[in-house]
This record gives sequence, C-alpha cells and structure tokens, in this order.
Amino acid sequence: MPTKNPKLKSSKAPKLFKYYAGFAVDFVESAVHKTLSDMEICNKIVVLDPWNGSGTTTNTCSKLGIPSIGIDRNPVMAVVAKAREARNRNFEYLNLLCEELATPPAKDDPLLAWIAPSGVAILRSIEKKIRNLSTEQDRSLGYVLLFNLTKNLLKKYVSSNPTWIKKPETRSRIRPTKQSIKLELENCIKRAQSDENLHSQATSTIITADSRFLPLKDNVVDLIITSPPYCTRIDYAIATSIELAVLSCSEAEFLSLRNELIGSTLVENGISQTNEWGSLCCETLNKIRAHPSKASNGYYIKSFLRYFDSLYKSIIEISRVTKNGGICYIVVQDSYYKEIFIDLAAITTDMFITNKWSLVEQNDFIATRNKAAINTKSNKYQSNKIATESVLTLRRES
Ligand SMILES: C[S@@+](CC[C@H](N)C(=O)[O-])C[C@H]1O[C@@H](n2cnc3c(N)ncnc32)[C@H](O)[C@@H]1O
Repeated sequence: MPTKNPKLKSSKAPKLFKYYAGFAVDFVESAVHKTLSDMEICNKIVVLDPWNGSGTTTNTCSKLGIPSIGIDRNPVMAVVAKAREARNRNFEYLNLLCEELATPPAKDDPLLAWIAPSGVAILRSIEKKIRNLSTEQDRSLGYVLLFNLTKNLLKKYVSSNPTWIKKPETRSRIRPTKQSIKLELENCIKRAQSDENLHSQATSTIITADSRFLPLKDNVVDLIITSPPYCTRIDYAIATSIELAVLSCSEAEFLSLRNELIGSTLVENGISQTNEWGSLCCETLNKIRAHPSKASNGYYIKSFLRYFDSLYKSIIEISRVTKNGGICYIVVQDSYYKEIFIDLAAITTDMFITNKWSLVEQNDFIATRNKAAINTKSNKYQSNKIATESVLTLRRES
C-alpha cells in the first residue's frame, strides 16, 4: 500500500484556516517518501499540485525540503498556502492597529455587503499594516488572520453548508466596534500562534492560475499529488466569498472566478462530450441526460459536461508538464446524481490512460461525504452519505 488514508485526521492539520476540502499531511508525506524510494533519487524531484487548495502538498514538500509548485485558480487559496510558510509569527505590529485613524472605505468595497462603513474602515486599517510586511509569506499570514477575523465577525451569515453565505439588507449590516474587532483579532492571533505547523523553509512556488492552462514548460514535473474539485456542484467561489471580499475582489472578478472554477454551479452552452473522455464517462452522461427528473436534460447535463470537459483539459495539461516515468497520486471521491452513480475514480483513470498514463494501483477508503456535497433537497435519493475516496497511483508512459 503506497499511501495513507488521504482524509485521516492528523495532528499535523493546520489550525490556521478551516478548509473543508483539504487532505492529510500524512498522506502527502507518505506519497513523497514512496516516490523517492521507488525512483531512487534523493530529494531532487519537483512536485506539482494543480489544485493546491490550502497548500497541504506545497507546505509538506517545503518541510521535507523538496521543491514544489502549487496552482489554484482561487486567489484566496494562494494566500492560505503561502501563509502556511510564513516565518514571522510576531504579531506585535497589529497591536497598534486600533490606535490609528481609519479612513472611510471606497464606495465599492465588497465588504460593505455585510459590514457598515465604520467597521469596514477599521478592517481596512488593519489591512494597511499587513501590506507593509516585508515578505509575501508574512503578508499572506496577516491576510489569513484578517480572513478569520472577518469571518468570525460575520458568523451569523455563514451556515454549516460552506457554499451558502447570506447577505443582509443594507440596514441590517453588522456594526462592529473597535473593541469587538480588537478582541476577535486577539483570538485569531492566539490560534495562529498555537499552530505548530507553520514554521518552515519555503521551497514552494504558489501560483494563481487555471489548471486547464498550466503556466509551466513541458516535462518539468516528477510527481503530482493532488485532489480535483468535487463533482458535486460545490461553488468554491461562494464558499470563499468573504475572503474574496477581504481581498477586494470586484464583482466582475468574482464572476470570472466562478466561470473558471471547476465544479461551480454555473453552466456553459456548447460543450459536447467526446469519446476521449472514455466510455464510462459517456455512459454516465447519457444516463444523466435520460433521467426523467426536471432539468436533467437541461441545467444538470450542462453542468456535468462542463465538469468533465474541464477535468479532461486539466489532465491534458498535467500530462504535458510531467516527465516520462513521472508519478501522479490523485485523490477522488465518488458521488451520485439522483440514483446514478458517478464513479469518478474509473472515469479519471480512463482520462489519464487516454493521455498515455498507466494505472499502477487504486486504494479505496471509506469517507463521510462532504456536507456540501449532499443534496439535502433530494432525500429520496440519499442512500449515499458514505463515500468512497480513492487514491489513484498513475505512471506517465513514454
Ligand atoms: C479538493 S480542493 C483541493 C484541496 C487540497 N488538496 C488541500 O489539501 O487543501 C480543489 C481545489 O481546486 C481548485 N480549483 C477549482 N477549479 C480550478 C481551476 N480551474 N484551476 C485551478 N484550481 C482550481 C479549488 O479552488 C480548490 O481549492
């Protein structure tokens, strides 16, 4: 068995940022060690995670002293991944924050959707201090504190489903005082300081980019450790809309992010399935199209076509940048559309095989389906709260 359970709870999990889609540090460590011993080359490999999320792959590689590249289309995830490699955990610079005079926020500040101008002004004055920090990692850690602080202030708008964040009417926006913000910030700082897994020598390069257009040369990667977005219409942009507002992401940027994130709820016209995706993928899509329930042959088939099209384009790119003989560990979770089983492990394997990879091994683990992945409206179909998480080990053939 090459790998540990990718979702096993680990004492090494970061306390810094709660991320519902992350995988375990132990899993990445075991995948790297296994590859190093199999390839008989010590540490001279380049690791890529094209869906890097909170940066478990890149941070673990940094701890092991191995160069890595982490790519994620969501700019929030790049900040989180970089923050895990910050060296400066002396947050004294923030202590003076509330002494400073806050200037009124810009009229189009996205935080104004939840917070009255006086509160936004205080948060932006904290941001000003963070921007003055000297390294990118330290600035990122500052931003993650600001994410956590803002999310704590907005707790009542965040439901247990991470993709459901409410926006109040203008008159009901929160009006936090300096004192309450200071208290929250102190809590966030304490939490960050108790996270023993932050210190490391950064050997990673974190890039905000689309996995369908990897900004890398051909044949440069030895090992891929990754987990693609779920095939369950989870909108990662909505799930991080508060953090994106902290980063001053405009409405237009938010929309283009939603358009480019794989698995989002937006659909696109004009995508047709192709045999290159494999026979199982095509059969599954045909079943979805023929399902008698409302919109199966409309909205839903379009959203699945978009998902598989993006997954396939990303696999083409992963194949292009990987050296011959390179290894890919990819963690996928199965799912259902109504009662139709979506065997993502087998579909993904087919797509890799079309692109000149061979399946070395598949290890299956029982997992609890992510809450956001469960369609609570369709109880009659919900016999499937238990999911199988598969670790596929693939080798790039010449
Ligand atoms: C399952 S999560 C990866 C979690 C990661 N393994 C961890 O430990 O945190 C999938 C990630 O894919 C990212 N993603 C979605 N569409 C993308 C795209 N087109 N290009 C790059 N990243 C994308 C999402 O932002 C999300 O962070």
